[in-house]
Amino acid sequence: MNAREKEFTSASGGGPAGPADAGERNLAPATQSPHAPASPAPAVGSSRPHESARAQVAGLATYIDDLPELKGTLHAAPILSPVAHGRLRSVDARAALQLPGVRGVVLAADIPGDPVLATFVHDEPIFARDTVQHAGQVIGLVVAESVMEARRAARQVRLDIEALPAVLDVRQAHAARSYVLPPVTVRRGEPEAALARSPHRLSGRLEVGGQEHFYLEGQVAYAIPLEQDQWHIHSSTQHPGEVQHWVAHALGLENNAVTVECRRMGGGFGGKETQAGHMAVWAALAARKLRRPVKLRLDRDDDFMVTGKRHPFAYDWEVGFDGGGRITGLKLAMLANCGFSADLSGPVADRAIFHTDNAYFLSDVEIASYRCRTNVQSHTAFRGFGGPQGVILIEAILGDIARHLALDPLDVRMRNLYGAGDGRDVTHYRMKVEDNILQPLLSRLEQSSQYRRRRQAIAAWNAGSSVIKRGIAITPVKFGISFTATFFNQAGALVHVFTDGSVQLNHGGTEMGQGLHTKIMQLVADELGVPFERVRVTATETGKVPNASATAASSGTDLNGRAAQFAARNIKGNLAAFVAGLDGCGAGAVSFQAGQVVSPKQTRSFDQVVKLAYANRIQLWSDGFYRTPKIHYDKVTLTGRPFYYFSYGAACSEVAIDALTGESRVLAVDILHDVGHSINPALDIGQIEGGFIQGMGWLTTEQLVWNARGELATHAPSTYKIPATGDLPARWQVELWPEPNPEDNVGRSKAVGEPPFMLAISVWEAIRDAVAAGGGEPRALAAPATAEQVLRALGDGPASGTTPG
Ligand code: MTE
Ligand code: MOS
Repeated sequence: MNAREKEFTSASGGGPAGPADAGERNLAPATQSPHAPASPAPAVGSSRPHESARAQVAGLATYIDDLPELKGTLHAAPILSPVAHGRLRSVDARAALQLPGVRGVVLAADIPGDPVLATFVHDEPIFARDTVQHAGQVIGLVVAESVMEARRAARQVRLDIEALPAVLDVRQAHAARSYVLPPVTVRRGEPEAALARSPHRLSGRLEVGGQEHFYLEGQVAYAIPLEQDQWHIHSSTQHPGEVQHWVAHALGLENNAVTVECRRMGGGFGGKETQAGHMAVWAALAARKLRRPVKLRLDRDDDFMVTGKRHPFAYDWEVGFDGGGRITGLKLAMLANCGFSADLSGPVADRAIFHTDNAYFLSDVEIASYRCRTNVQSHTAFRGFGGPQGVILIEAILGDIARHLALDPLDVRMRNLYGAGDGRDVTHYRMKVEDNILQPLLSRLEQSSQYRRRRQAIAAWNAGSSVIKRGIAITPVKFGISFTATFFNQAGALVHVFTDGSVQLNHGGTEMGQGLHTKIMQLVADELGVPFERVRVTATETGKVPNASATAASSGTDLNGRAAQFAARNIKGNLAAFVAGLDGCGAGAVSFQAGQVVSPKQTRSFDQVVKLAYANRIQLWSDGFYRTPKIHYDKVTLTGRPFYYFSYGAACSEVAIDALTGESRVLAVDILHDVGHSINPALDIGQIEGGFIQGMGWLTTEQLVWNARGELATHAPSTYKIPATGDLPARWQVELWPEPNPEDNVGRSKAVGEPPFMLAISVWEAIRDAVAAGGGEPRALAAPATAEQVLRALGDGPASGTTPG
């Protein structure tokens, strides 16, 4: 390790700049105390600490399982199918009901409303009825006085299941035409003719694994029956509105009978976009049957067994290219392993299609996307939402092309980038790429990371080292921002100014650690010209802002931030008109800044103006509403402008692999990422770092294994390995691209939640580079690149010098 680090230092030509250095440079303002005197400077653009940071560190921020329990609260535990596919003949709960503390069992027959969840495709039973469709499917609940009593009793429920053949492999599902939704094909030009004409051709297949969300707070819901068949649901959810809709649907009630609340999640990562709804529906059904409040908190193993994950993908591809590595034609089949039901698989597979170009122009292309049904958990949203599964394929192909032609992979990537005004600026789904910064961004990272020099140094190292082989790669990201379901791109907010001049903010977005509330508080503070400290945010609640979209697609700030800004602007307008009346000036001449309201005649404090306005019966609160402009697309052909803009970035990763053990290590990472005008650089850099590391986990150590019976064998941290602090790269530089968003997005910022996840594809490409240096076959490397995978790809490895197939 030491030798490697030393070698790296000389290759980069500078001292090892650790995360601390990066912190000093980029994060310094984040350390300022929130108790410091209120600064008159604008809040937007400053590295405010997360609004809950102190409370979270002190254990004073509440999650659902921390809420004081109402008297009479019961606890539920799920009854899981042990079989991947089978006929459910009977459920015998007699033994379970005899156990101490047990108060009841809840099954499909206890559902007063529709026994099928209110999902878009309407294909998923709330509780398995006559068939079970995956190992871990929930058949019912045991409800008891305590969590442990419920869990113990759930294991005593006897199930009579007649096993049926299960489809576990995605290729097997495709061969059997077992789909959750019909296939979709996007085509441009004449890919067959283009392939036939191409001077060079390669074809291959690739398998890319799924990923467990591993949110620190597991799935949880607390259902409280109120008077007259009304309900209050605490749900750890990214989409309270959908939980409300699902619960009402299952209970046979109208949406107005159900209120859903979420102050924060301990992580969601897409795993609580739909799947939190299941917990809430289950808890509500138990509460209805037993007429008591019911809490349902899955333990970690059950969370793994019950909930869906990132979709594993398999690909078959054929590419044509010229002598310079420029792609001339591409034909591709993508098989998404969707699990037993559709859930969000349609839009996830669509986004994979939309991101198969990543940063590159594809003239003649056909992408056929198959949404395969298998007898496993129903796979769902996960950071990037199918985007990563598109991007990794084209990056793998470009790496293969470069090695085939013995060219530098960065040169090949640069040659394939989207152009401007030369006909090479329209995506395969017919959207013009108008905000392209790929060329300057990659050139700048090439310089700042000293890519060329380091590649030479790495080649020299590899020539002299038979066991430790190094690799390096730069990969870009271009990620489309907006929900592809156009109607989701709307948001609402509510801003209250109280008579003391303090401000309370509520909006439709949810906080999962990403800093959404903090950023929106900054926007509202600046809009009203008050210090950040005057603004507080309250729990997301369906009764405050209705019909809100999921906080997803990275668009939380774009949508809700603008809605909140508009709400604050309405209040400001009321106050400005009032002051203008007092001072005999135009409302436009009244400005709000640093806690002051300034007219040509007089300067007053914000509090003073609020008091006066209240006394004069001026409205001091307002809603705000925003919908994203310019977007439209045809859902059948998948063509149009699905995205308002693109977020860009690139990463340079250097790795070392051990040819004897297959282990790998990320030594150094340089990131240059585009967030437009950052609303909060500390939070944005946190998202970039977190996204990158989560992506690195997906592509290196996080392996999901289902055994031959379809049971998930990796269902706890003992067998499923997420990155730990020891896996952080020794050198890790994150820089923000300095230009604003050319589109009129809130504060000229750009979305940041998901795009950096795909920067980690540079790690996987760097490992393939190292495998090539070790005499192995990088095209044999699947993802994740576990030690076993790396060894397999190395084949006989460097000692024999053979090239394994
Ligand atoms: N960051 C933290 N800390 N925790 C999370 O659960 N989810 C990610 C990303 N960053 C997540 C996160 C995902 S999947 C999305 S879509 C965005 O945050 C959602 O929030 P935003 O729209 O406010 O960026
Ligand atoms: Mo994120 S996968 O869009 O919740």
